[in-house]
Formats: sequence, C-alpha cells, structure tokens
Amino acid sequence: MSDVLDRSIRFGSNAGQPLTRRDGIAKVTGTATFAADNLPDGLLHAVYLPATIARGRVTKLDVDAARAHPGVVAVYTPENRPPLQGDPDDKPTMFSFRIEVLQDDTVRYAGQPIALVLGETLEAATEGARLLNPDYDMQTPRTGLDDGDPFDVEPGGFGRPAGTTHGDIDAGHAAAAKAIDVTYRTASQYHNAMETHAIVAQWDGDQLLLDVPTQALNMTCAAYAYFFGIPVENVTVRSPYLGGGFGSKAIPVGPSVLAILAARASGRPVKLMLTRQQMFGPVAHRGATRQRLRLGIGDDAALTVLDHDSLSETSTFDDFHEPAANASQGLYAAGAIRSSHRGVRLDIGTPGPMRAPGEASGAAALECAMDEMAEAAGMDPLEFRLKNYAETEPGTGKPYSSKALRDCYLQGAERFGWAGRPMAPRQMQDEDGLLTGWGMGTALFPAPMFAAEARATLRADGSALVETSAADMGQGSWTSLAQIAADSLGLSMDQLEFHAGHSSLPDGGVAGGSGHTATAGGALHAAGRDTIRQLGELAAGDPASPLYGAGNASLVAQHGRLFVEGDPGRGESFTDILSRAGVPELIGSGKAARPPEAGQRHAMYSHGAVFAEVKVDPELCQMRVSRLVGAFAAGRIINPKLAESQLMGGMIWGIGFALHEEAKHDPRTGRILNADFAGYHVPVNADVCGLEVVTVHEDDPFVNPLGIKGVGEIGIVGTVGAIGNAIRHATGHRIRRFPIRIEDLLTA
Ligand code: MOS
Repeated sequence: MSDVLDRSIRFGSNAGQPLTRRDGIAKVTGTATFAADNLPDGLLHAVYLPATIARGRVTKLDVDAARAHPGVVAVYTPENRPPLQGDPDDKPTMFSFRIEVLQDDTVRYAGQPIALVLGETLEAATEGARLLNPDYDMQTPRTGLDDGDPFDVEPGGFGRPAGTTHGDIDAGHAAAAKAIDVTYRTASQYHNAMETHAIVAQWDGDQLLLDVPTQALNMTCAAYAYFFGIPVENVTVRSPYLGGGFGSKAIPVGPSVLAILAARASGRPVKLMLTRQQMFGPVAHRGATRQRLRLGIGDDAALTVLDHDSLSETSTFDDFHEPAANASQGLYAAGAIRSSHRGVRLDIGTPGPMRAPGEASGAAALECAMDEMAEAAGMDPLEFRLKNYAETEPGTGKPYSSKALRDCYLQGAERFGWAGRPMAPRQMQDEDGLLTGWGMGTALFPAPMFAAEARATLRADGSALVETSAADMGQGSWTSLAQIAADSLGLSMDQLEFHAGHSSLPDGGVAGGSGHTATAGGALHAAGRDTIRQLGELAAGDPASPLYGAGNASLVAQHGRLFVEGDPGRGESFTDILSRAGVPELIGSGKAARPPEAGQRHAMYSHGAVFAEVKVDPELCQMRVSRLVGAFAAGRIINPKLAESQLMGGMIWGIGFALHEEAKHDPRTGRILNADFAGYHVPVNADVCGLEVVTVHEDDPFVNPLGIKGVGEIGIVGTVGAIGNAIRHATGHRIRRFPIRIEDLLTA
C-alpha cells in the first residue's frame, strides 16, 4: 500500500464495509422525493407535442382548438414562443448540445417538440396537445447509416473523438502472416432510465428554483442561467434522488428549457415529465455504429496491426459521434494501431453519452474480432489475449497505474472454469439438448477524475455534517460517499449527517465517466481531514490536553477520539477538545482533482474480463445467457455490496446490448417503431441468471490518494463481446451485429 494513502482510511472502519444503501428504504417505500413528486401551489402541467415525422416542416397547428379546451391555459408554438436570452444553438457548458426549443417550424427528427401546452391538469394539457392536430410538409427521412454521405469527424469539443495512429499501419498490414477484415454493426439504443426526464420550474422574480434530476448540479445551473440570462447564483437546483442517469441526465435538454420558459411566461410553477415514448428522441441516445476491424498477426501470433474504423450516426444539427474506435487505443499491444471515426448526418435526435460511451460499442466489435483472429491463429481466445494485451499504454508507452488485467483474466477464467473449453465450436450440448457455448471479452475503461469541493462540520456533540452537491443517480453514492467521509473524520456512520443533491452546497462535480466516487469522495475526504487538522491544532496548543505539543502529523482520528499514532492511550475525545476550547463547531473544506502530471506519468484505467455461457435452442435458435462471470479490478472498493451491484448492472446492460436493445425506425416516416417497453426490449429477471462478480484486489497508488476507480460503466464493456463469442462457440455461427436476433441465427 502506498504511503500517500491516508492512515485514517487504512484504519477506517467504514470504507470497505458492504453497507446497505442508506436511501433504500425511502426509495422502496415511496417517501423519497423525486423531481416530479414536487407539487407547489398553483402548479401548471406542461405537455409537449412530439413531431410524428422526422424531416420537413409543420404547416398547420390547430392552436384555437387547443386553447378552447377547458383547463388549457396557454399554447406555445414557434410563433409565440417567449424569447430566450441565450442562444439555443450555443453550448454553454461542456456536456451541452444544440437544443430544440421551438426555434422555427422545421422538423429535424421524430419526437422533436413542436408545441407546448400548459394546463391546469395533466389531462387538460394532454388533450390540448392532441387537439393541435398538426399538418406537415414531409420530406423523405434519412435514418439508416447508408442514408447519408460519411464524413471524417474533425476532433474538437465534447462528442468529437480524435482518431489516433501509432506506428506504421501499412507496414503492420504487410507484416501480417494471417489477417481478418470484418465489419460489425451495433444498433441505436435509447436512454430509458426508470425515472423519465422531469422538471418542476418555479420563478420568483429573476430567481429560478428547479426540481430536476441531474448528474451535474452546478453545470446544470450554469446552463440554465445562460439560457435565461440570469446570474448563476440565481438558479437553485434540487436533485436529491435520480431514478437513473446513465449520461442522459448530464446534459440540458430542450423539453426542460421549454418548461422553464413556460413557467416564466405564465407566472406559475410548471411541471413537465416525459412519457416513456417521449424518451425516444430529444434526450440523447447511443448512436448506431458500423465498425470495420482489420487485424493481422505474425507467425508468433502477436498482433502486427489493429485498424479500427467506426462509422456512426449523428443528427443534422449537432455532433456527437460514438467514440467506438477508442476502445482499440489502450488495450492490445499491436505493432501499429489506428482508430478512426466517421459520421453520417441523419434525421434523428442528437446522440449522446450513454453508459460506457465508446467502449461499450467499440469493445463489442473489438472483442469479437479478437476472437476471430484467435480462431484464425488456432489459439484459445484467452491464450490469445494473454499473448497480446498491452503491458504499457500503446502509443504513449506510459506504464499503467496498476497492472491488474492479467489478474482479471486469470481469476475470471478460474471462477468460470474456462480450462475445460473445447476449441472447436458446436461441441457442447446440455441435458436438455441445448447447444452450449463459452465466450470471453476484455473490459477496459478509463479511470477519470473531475474537480469537486466539499465541506465537513464537526459539532460540539461529536457528530458531523458533511456536504457536497453531487447527486446520487441510483448507484448508492449517498452511502459510499458517506463511508469515505466518516472515515476521514474518524466517526461512525450514525454520527454522520450527509447532505448532497442541492446546488447551494459545495460543487460536487459531475456524476459521470465512472468518476463520481473518486471525485466527490476525494473532496469529502480532504474536507474531513481539514477539520481533523484544525481539531489537532486546538488540542496540541492546549496545555490541558494529553495531546499538548503533539505534532499534527502523528495524530490519528478514530471512533470520535484523537490520539497519537502507536500510543492510543495518549489522546482524548473530539467532544472534550471542543468543549474545553469553547468551540461550537469546526468547519473544514476540501477539494479534489487529479494533478495533470499524474496523468502524464501513468495511463489510468479500470480493467476486467468477462466470461459468458450461452444456451441456444438448436431448432428455434432462442438464446439465453445461462452464466456470466465478470472479474474486475477497479482500485479500492469502498462498498463491496454497492460496487458489485454496479458491476452486475453493467453486465446486465451488456446482456441487453448483446441480445435485446434496438430502436427500429420506420423508413417511411422516420419514427421509431418500438418506442415503448412493449417493443423496445431490455433484460428482465428471466433473462438474467447465474451472474457472478469477482472483484480483483488492486492497489493503485497513482490514480488518486484514496486509490479509487470507477465501477459504473466497465461492467458492460467486455460482456457484449463475450456473449457474441459464446454464441459463435455454441452454434458455429459468427453474427456480426448487435443485438443478435433469432432470425440472424435462423438465416446464418
Ligand atoms: Mo455516464 S455516460 O458517464 O453518465
């Protein structure tokens, strides 16, 4: 263990414990207040009318009919939409995309808001929107990757991945003794958190109060302050609970801006909550990709080249390009590596980040291609990866901040029982006659850290209040962050009050990129240590204290006592120190961010290896994942129960990615045909059996002082490829598209 690791954490009694989430009871009993549960006096309900074409113009809206409906208070269309102070085409914060807020009568995608109706009741507003009965001037929509001319993505700004090249690609291709050239497709997937997007907006003069689920409270305040031309301190965001974020709730979206506009124009609070169907359009999605992978190996089975090109969809009015080929940049040690991204403009809402953006789609293709290459080499897929995984980051040559990937491979394989795997496909059948196959995939995900601040107040009664704005989007950070804070103060969880999810608190940064625990946790830890440092100074300067004259560096805070390390008898309780000093409370503050030098010295990733068993009916071709073992190394695990739950959640999404999720467009209208949970499939209990997570022990002393990495996204990453490879092993058929459907096997 590194010496930068704080001793209070090493001795900590809270971090590392599999505590049950603190907000669990409130959530399952319905007492947790989500955004849409806020019903201020005078509330109006907003319902927007989604376009039912994907490309063209709105030529008529029956505004009079809507206005005449009892209970309808106002109807907003591009003709009377109140002005915005900020330009909706602008990007006021990092995760911004151009938003649709009734700028004009153009329709750019199906589901785009084309009018907003305010009603005294939800029913009145809904009926008012129906009565608008639009006419369109419709053009042929473009919704498939072949419907536009591909262009090279110019890097720059969020959502535009850079292509990179290391080594001599032509030489790498030329040096290959065996080569493959394969193309994989991934479908578009739409954000469907359990809680749909919702907002309750209230104006008081030029003060704006928002109840809105957001992964980034302070950035959300900044974005809305810009759009409405008010100082950022005039915007208050309350976001105590999120029913899932997954990247969608990190960005300002058009419907929310419309609700705030309507609240200002009407002078009353306004609530807007998207229906499930409305989630398919204006709130970002994982864009479809077509990825070409060209791999070559020498006679020694070492990769000579890894050449990954990704074509992905974006909208006609903004750029987010699934950074899929990035997945090939950090993992395997090929003589030459190229990742390139091209885009196609379609009549769709702008895609955006969705849990493991880039890596999930990219690794799905890469890990299947690696299997195809292993097969060409006549090697076991695990053996082939053990031969080719990178020891230092390809291209940069930077050492990894820890080298846990090999452990993930070996421990995962051991737990799964990989050693008994027959090389040839279609060799295993179970007692029910189902074809059985085993496949694997590697998982790699960057371990980023953002900037955050926190505050810790130690009170005279020995309890503490810790505060940071960062929201819990369902991953359990109410609990794991409190565990970190409690250890930093040497207190137990029941002595700790934890406040988060309010923009007036110190900026907790962004809950995204799997960096939340490291970022907000780092700030909370620093704040707690700052408080204890002040406490130590009080004691060391007080002749009546047993700690009088003790250097602060040698003091340990534990169980509400401050004592000299190695001499626990020499110390006293927090309450004694504070009461003798007559100090009612001590307030410490902390910040966390990774120093830029750290990232220049080391490449920082979480690692994993996923092993899948599938069963396939030989006649009906029904597929089921019967067993999934994921071994992950993600630094210090603060709460094993919550971390495993996150990793399992990611793996379950991997099952959905591999076998279920696909938004399908009607080519005539451009509408999504399956924009609901009847037609858009996600895994349910019956689809998930035999899920196992192995957390591989890892000490990463470089990633941050607490050694924390993320667990939120990496679970998806290796899983998709592992399932595709297992289906190949079970059936002998290599399906190069996700999701893999029954008809793909029937016609293979
Ligand atoms: Mo995530 S896609 O970093 O919220």
